[in-house]
Amino acid sequence: MALLTIIVFLLQLTSNVRVNSEPTQDKQALLAFLSQTPHSNRLQWNASASACDWVGVKCDASRSFVYSLRLPAVDLVGPVPPATIGRLSQLRILSLRSNGLTGEIPGDFSNLTLLRNLYLQKNQFSGEFPPSLTRLTRLTRLDLSSNNFTGQIPFSVNNLTHLTGLFLEHNSFSGKIPSITAKLVDFNVSFNRLNGSIPETLSTFPNSSFAGNIDLCGPPLTACNPFFPAPAPSPSSNSTPTKTHKSKKLSTGAIVAIVVGSVLVAALLLLLLLLCLRRRRRQPAKPPKPVAAARAVAVEAGTSSSKEDITGGSAEAERNKLVFFEGGIYSFDLEDLLRASAEVLGKGSVGTSYKAVLEEGTTVVVKRLKDVVVTKKEFELQMEVLGKIKHENVVPLRAFYFSKDEKLLVYDYMSAGSLSALLHGSRGSGRTPLDWDSRMKIAVGAARGLACLHVAGKVVHGNIKSSNILLRGPDHDAGVSDFGLNPLFGNGAPSNRVAGYRAPEVVETRKVSFKSDVYSFGVLLLELLTGKAPNQASLGEEGIDLPRWVQSVVREEWTAEVFDAELMRYHNFEEEMVQLLQIAMACVSVVPDQRPSMQDVVRMIEDINRGETDDGLRQSSDDPSKGSEGHTPPPESRTPRSLTP
Ligand SMILES: *[C@@H]1O[C@H](CO)[C@@H](O)[C@H](O)[C@H]1NC(C)=O
Ligand SMILES: *[C@@H]1O[C@H](CO)[C@@H](O)[C@H](O)[C@H]1NC(C)=O
Ligand SMILES: *[C@@H]1O[C@H](CO)[C@@H](O)[C@H](O)[C@H]1NC(C)=O
Ligand SMILES: *[C@@H]1O[C@H](CO)[C@@H](O)[C@H](O)[C@H]1NC(C)=O
Ligand SMILES: *[C@@H]1O[C@H](CO)[C@@H](O)[C@H](O)[C@H]1NC(C)=O
Ligand SMILES: *[C@@H]1O[C@H](CO)[C@@H](O)[C@H](O)[C@H]1NC(C)=O
Ligand SMILES: *[C@@H]1O[C@H](CO)[C@@H](O)[C@H](O)[C@H]1NC(C)=O
Repeated sequence: MALLTIIVFLLQLTSNVRVNSEPTQDKQALLAFLSQTPHSNRLQWNASASACDWVGVKCDASRSFVYSLRLPAVDLVGPVPPATIGRLSQLRILSLRSNGLTGEIPGDFSNLTLLRNLYLQKNQFSGEFPPSLTRLTRLTRLDLSSNNFTGQIPFSVNNLTHLTGLFLEHNSFSGKIPSITAKLVDFNVSFNRLNGSIPETLSTFPNSSFAGNIDLCGPPLTACNPFFPAPAPSPSSNSTPTKTHKSKKLSTGAIVAIVVGSVLVAALLLLLLLLCLRRRRRQPAKPPKPVAAARAVAVEAGTSSSKEDITGGSAEAERNKLVFFEGGIYSFDLEDLLRASAEVLGKGSVGTSYKAVLEEGTTVVVKRLKDVVVTKKEFELQMEVLGKIKHENVVPLRAFYFSKDEKLLVYDYMSAGSLSALLHGSRGSGRTPLDWDSRMKIAVGAARGLACLHVAGKVVHGNIKSSNILLRGPDHDAGVSDFGLNPLFGNGAPSNRVAGYRAPEVVETRKVSFKSDVYSFGVLLLELLTGKAPNQASLGEEGIDLPRWVQSVVREEWTAEVFDAELMRYHNFEEEMVQLLQIAMACVSVVPDQRPSMQDVVRMIEDINRGETDDGLRQSSDDPSKGSEGHTPPPESRTPRSLTP
């Protein structure tokens, strides 16, 4: 009996304790919140009662802290004051959804480290993705949808390793979606301003998770193309398939029309080509790829598709205008290019180059220019100039594309890569070094190509360097690439060019000229001779460029030490090397007017060469007298003395 009373008493006591116990600090925090935040009358928190009994507040079993706070749709207005909710340090669930809360999420939310569910949707919160939230590593559900958040979704959401639901739809988040590794079950970023490719980790979510963004691509949406931003999904985001279908049909039609229409032109061109080849005496011209179609006009697939939607239609037309130059050998169009598989060849100062393999098997190089400043008209004028240049030592520009967002150039693909790669790639790892014959062949080819640009094209190359000398095949037929692009960039672009090739006056004025091309070409010759990259640190002293390094070596002791060690096995050609070195040194004169013209350079290099061509085989050219046979070296520039400044 007595025992029972004691038990009852104890029970009463504990229940009393429960009723009276009060999470005092939490209560103060809640009161502070409510007193500073306008709200509807429904929310009456009686300060004399326990906070655990208030509307929307739940405490833990022992009523020692607030466990959850749910205040949906109670007309809360204005910013969440700091040091209020952020002080509910034991909070597990917080819902403030469907109110009129504004401003940023207070930084002290980072103290809610035990929070598991956070529902802030349907307010007008603004600012960037709240950094305080990425510290709440126990969050499982985070809903920020239908607010005014801006900026990027930070990579640090990956801090939230327990997250199963992330809802960010209907905000103004922009930029790329970070790769999120958490095991998400629900994910929604629809109706933001996101762009770029959808990370693979998120590609399993339905397309409605990504709808209504500026420019997202990749699964589950349309595939990304490296050359173009994906077509912007229309608001209803269901018309894309039909559109694609339509323009595909059109472009097929265009191809057929063009192919049929140009058979005659192609035949004519072939005839002309044959005639030309006959006239040229001993140019071992490369057999050109079969002429499939010749086009002089813009391929405008899609211009007539603007029936349904005027703006969409004209954007499409703009998008589909790939301009081929007369006498081209390709028969693809933009649609094909979009479908091509692409691989990055290199990132340069003017943009990124891709090797694009079209479905039919054609391979081209697509250069994606960045920071173009000129107008479309100016761009087209320059392209017209560049497209006309045809020479076996110039990598032909085949087509271009200009839109507000994209500027593309299409070149022939040169399968043997660049001189830079051949000369400097994996040195000493058992590869076959570039022999002297090949170097001479490249030197003379590049010189001819550059001279053609200068004389026939009246074009300054502006960016001569070994990575812009491309080789067509195992025979080392050189082609000069990336010419004449400087006018597209105003004054800004050349500054970040590879410094070692720039003529002294270009470093100062940033203005390229025929003479500055000659200087750069001289550096290129030195590179061929020394095997040293002009921008590499291996020249010993800090800040010394290749011409000055060569000068210093040559001045101190006129030895063969300047030459590439890989060339030293070819004893017979030392004389030729010295001659080429002298030509190179003339090209890198500090005073522009003292540099020879490119035609002179070609002639001088050919003079070195003539002996061998007459000899036939290089291997038999041991005769030491051969070098001075029949062609006397030009005056001054042929004596070692001229090398010293
Ligand atoms: C507040 O709570 C106290 C004690 O529980 C009670 O006496 C009082 O009537 C309540 N006031 C209101 C306005 O409900
Ligand atoms: C988090 O809480 C600690 C102690 O409770 C406090 O010192 C700190 O200022 C709080 N952080 C923020 C951002 O308010
Ligand atoms: C990620 O969480 C840890 C705590 O777990 C925190 O120290 C860190 O600052 C968080 N990183 C970011 C970017 O919020
Ligand atoms: C939030 O965005 C909506 C719609 O863009 C706008 O009407 C509203 O004024 C914005 N609110 C704030 C606080 O910026
Ligand atoms: C994505 O948008 C941002 C601006 O919001 C822009 O800076 C960026 O270039 C865009 N990226 C792509 C791939 O379009
Ligand atoms: C994502 O949110 C949008 C807009 O609220 C909705 O229409 C869509 O069904 C949601 N998708 C998923 C997968 O939840
Ligand atoms: C989204 O997917 C559904 C079916 O999976 C498809 O019918 C719809 O066209 C797709 N929408 C977009 C915009 O890709």
